Amino acid sequence: MKKLLLSIFALGVLGSSYAENVLQNVYSRECISLNGLWNYQVDPFDNGYYDYRLQPSPNGFFKNQKPKDKTELVEYNLDTAPTMYVPGDWNTQDDMLFYYEGSVWFKRDFEFSKQGDNKTFLYFGAVNYFCNVYLNGEQIGTHEGGFTPFNFDVTDKLKEGKNFLVVRVNNTRKPENVPTVNSDWWNYGGITRDVMLVNVPKVYIDDYSIQLPKGENNRIVGYVQLNEKASRSVVVEIPELKIKQSLQTNADGKAEFSVKAKPTLWSPENPKLYEVTITCGKETIEDKIGFRTIEVQGKKLLVNGKETFLRGISIHEEAPYRAGRVTSREEAVVLLTWAKELGCNFVRLAHYPHNEYMVRAAEEMGFFIWSEIPVYWTIHWGNPTTYANAEKQLVDMIARDKNRCGIIVWSIANETPHSDARDSFLKNLSQKARQMDNTRLISMAMEVTGIQNGVGHVADNMNEYVDIVSFNNYLGWYGGTLDDLKTTNWEIPDNKPFFISEFGGGALQGLHGDKDTRWSEEYQDELYKNTLEMYERQEGWIGTSPWILMDFRSARRQLAGIQDFYNRKGLISNRGIKKKAFFTLQSFYKKKAEEYKNK
Ligand code: GCU
Repeated sequence: MKKLLLSIFALGVLGSSYAENVLQNVYSRECISLNGLWNYQVDPFDNGYYDYRLQPSPNGFFKNQKPKDKTELVEYNLDTAPTMYVPGDWNTQDDMLFYYEGSVWFKRDFEFSKQGDNKTFLYFGAVNYFCNVYLNGEQIGTHEGGFTPFNFDVTDKLKEGKNFLVVRVNNTRKPENVPTVNSDWWNYGGITRDVMLVNVPKVYIDDYSIQLPKGENNRIVGYVQLNEKASRSVVVEIPELKIKQSLQTNADGKAEFSVKAKPTLWSPENPKLYEVTITCGKETIEDKIGFRTIEVQGKKLLVNGKETFLRGISIHEEAPYRAGRVTSREEAVVLLTWAKELGCNFVRLAHYPHNEYMVRAAEEMGFFIWSEIPVYWTIHWGNPTTYANAEKQLVDMIARDKNRCGIIVWSIANETPHSDARDSFLKNLSQKARQMDNTRLISMAMEVTGIQNGVGHVADNMNEYVDIVSFNNYLGWYGGTLDDLKTTNWEIPDNKPFFISEFGGGALQGLHGDKDTRWSEEYQDELYKNTLEMYERQEGWIGTSPWILMDFRSARRQLAGIQDFYNRKGLISNRGIKKKAFFTLQSFYKKKAEEYKNK
């Protein structure tokens, strides 16, 4: 039976999905939001998906059946089921679902009226973790991966007038998934980002890229890709730069261009974005695009040719004040405003691609961005399905955000134990990232190989595949003492700069004691002071993103009265109150900004 179930589930997971390429810059298109209150039905045994023989039921909950008369038996009703907000996670919207892992069915009725010969897509910003999507009782596709967008062409599936959309969401962790079963963040399940219908012309602008080529700042290059292999006139305009490129797509529906330009370069000090419009027929896409250069020279990081220090902070996609997944631009701006107050010019969006709102807001507010896929800890390195999943999430992350100049690092992993299988898995991912985008830095949070006789070593086989050596280290929290930080130094291999992607320690906001009292704000503050001094002593240090801006939910943090299922390494508590270490890091960044202003 188990084998049968596994094969059925495998079929379910591997079942074909009709997702097309994900529409680039969906928010600039004609969108009909399906956000709001959706009905939901909890289904712990997947009773709405399988029949008692564990075969996928032809009359599952996706039919949203009603009894045809007063006698017929139907044992569910999505119309009278309770409601919760989409986008949103179920864990923080229904106390009964705080720890829940399994299937939940969501249902949304909507009216639709076809406009001319438009195509219509059904777009999801993200669903965690796996979902089956049904329109008017028919499956239109599936998606796996909790943090990347996907869409389905529903042009021929929509009805004039009333339609109903049903989504089966399953957030069960599985060893072969990406991430795997063990992660230090809450497994928020649900339709966690926007859901929209998107109308586009029959022949539409599917994708585009507009940026400076690697190593140059006096011409802009790019391409426009239509959905059809058709020759069409396309116009790319950047009015402020007096650029108007009238192009003709080739037999593949693609048009490329290169044009001399001297744009004001984007930087955290001047996050200059240009209005860009792309027109094809009656369709016009508008975007705001910045231009900057980034390169590594020996142990230095140069942005726009200027030596730069990354004054960063790590951020989970945890909503301020209320916990749960961030679902809006407004919440993203609260987190980024705290980062600005801290004196940051860099945010590490851990450990998965964040909301598009977060990325766009960070770029507009002047932050460099580290964007990462959840290849985290003990991934199943030898499983080809796991690799295909990881690579798909990498491709979708780069595809969505390739026009965001704020992003300077694509990160392919976090803290992954060494093995030959892990090395080849990550080597392939790094080469895929490079092949898709040779303009940004490739990195990952590596594993420290150990500290011997007061010298830390980072001998990771991946060093040759990354542009900056990045690693997490918790000396003084996980092992070692606060005094060890005063005498430890680091041996960084290769002639590359290094970046500290994580350091930190826990503190319960409001708990005070001497600097040796674990969990006190003073302990955390002393750890920050000594750690910053330690890295200041090293050559080639280009910055850090300490762990972490705000306390966040984690099922691995059970210390009652202190953690209560929160990871307490935040510089700000889950109630939005700053701890002592916030101000220590703030004054360090103020000094650093001054030091690099005159470089
Ligand atoms: C690790 C990991 C984080 C985790 C942190 C911690 O470095 O990358 O996801 O939350 O340590 O232990 O708090």
